[in-house]
Amino acid sequence: MVATLDDTKRSAIGMKLAGMKELQNLLIENEQLFLRETNDADISDRFRKMLEDDQKNLGILDTVIVQYGVQAQPEKTITEMVQKLGQLMKGSELSLYEKVFQHELLKHQQVMTGLTIHKAAQKVGADVMLAIGPLNTINFENRAHQEQLKGVLEVLGVRELTGQEADQGIWARVQDAMAAFSGVVGSAVTQGSDKQDMNIQDIIRLDHNKVNTLFTQLLATDDAQKIQEYFGQIYKDLLVHSIAEEKVVYPAVRPFYGDSDTQELFDEQAHFRVLLDEIKATNASSPEFKDKIRKLMDEVGDHIRQEESTMFAAIRNNFSTEQSEQMTTKFKAAKSEEQQKMAQMSGMMK
Ligand SMILES: [Fe+2]
Ligand SMILES: [Fe+2]
Repeated sequence: MVATLDDTKRSAIGMKLAGMKELQNLLIENEQLFLRETNDADISDRFRKMLEDDQKNLGILDTVIVQYGVQAQPEKTITEMVQKLGQLMKGSELSLYEKVFQHELLKHQQVMTGLTIHKAAQKVGADVMLAIGPLNTINFENRAHQEQLKGVLEVLGVRELTGQEADQGIWARVQDAMAAFSGVVGSAVTQGSDKQDMNIQDIIRLDHNKVNTLFTQLLATDDAQKIQEYFGQIYKDLLVHSIAEEKVVYPAVRPFYGDSDTQELFDEQAHFRVLLDEIKATNASSPEFKDKIRKLMDEVGDHIRQEESTMFAAIRNNFSTEQSEQMTTKFKAAKSEEQQKMAQMSGMMK
């Protein structure tokens, strides 16, 4: 029997991601505050650029959490720490140097959490690696930010302690250290400042690739616990993806894609839900279990092919880039809402 759709280690990673988001908001607030509290042009420039990166990275973090598919609350200790430090930053007890010093420690925490999640994901499964892929961009940028912050700390620290200016050439040294990270950053999900979001085809394709990976992983293992874990994720992801398509995408494409083709997509998804519940009630170590999974995989495969060929063409031909990006934002919000509902429901059943 599939007793639960939740897997402990997947939830644990979900909590860490939620904590990163909370910390990311504090990083953004801090940088806005530093921009108000400094009149050094060099330092302002650096914080302005860092703030831009961090705001963009908050969006990427949102995408990662939704793609990961497990919404969780951050640990209480993180929430409390963020609150406490937020207060301290707004107060006048600390000098600017001391505030930036705390900020650098927070950046360090964000880097290490990101890197640890990345390493943990490698142990959990290929689908998790796929979902959290864009986290790499954030990790590399944060490493570069740390180098910048070291420079800022040197300038502010020397000034506060001695009233004199730091050595000339400090920013050149920072630049050299940062060069070590350049060229590594790059991802399909990188959002330029002119772009509101990814286009809708790309985000739908990410989901399709993820579910295919989950099917492959499930069929390749005979470990009952792994089978249950992968099925739990397939169940949640398919449900959330299909509901979000039905709320946001299908109604928008219907006028261009036609009633009968659109209806076909709705009907197929209704059948996925029947199959999912049938599988959920089947013993995971029985031979029928994998047979039913294969049947679901075939149906999902046909459905995906239709969406990625004709439906995507209808979107390309009838929606502007802006409209497509707006659809993505709505699609992600609809997914996030469903994921939160599911997390609440499974919390009530425990
Ligand atoms: Fe679909
Ligand atoms: Fe789809």
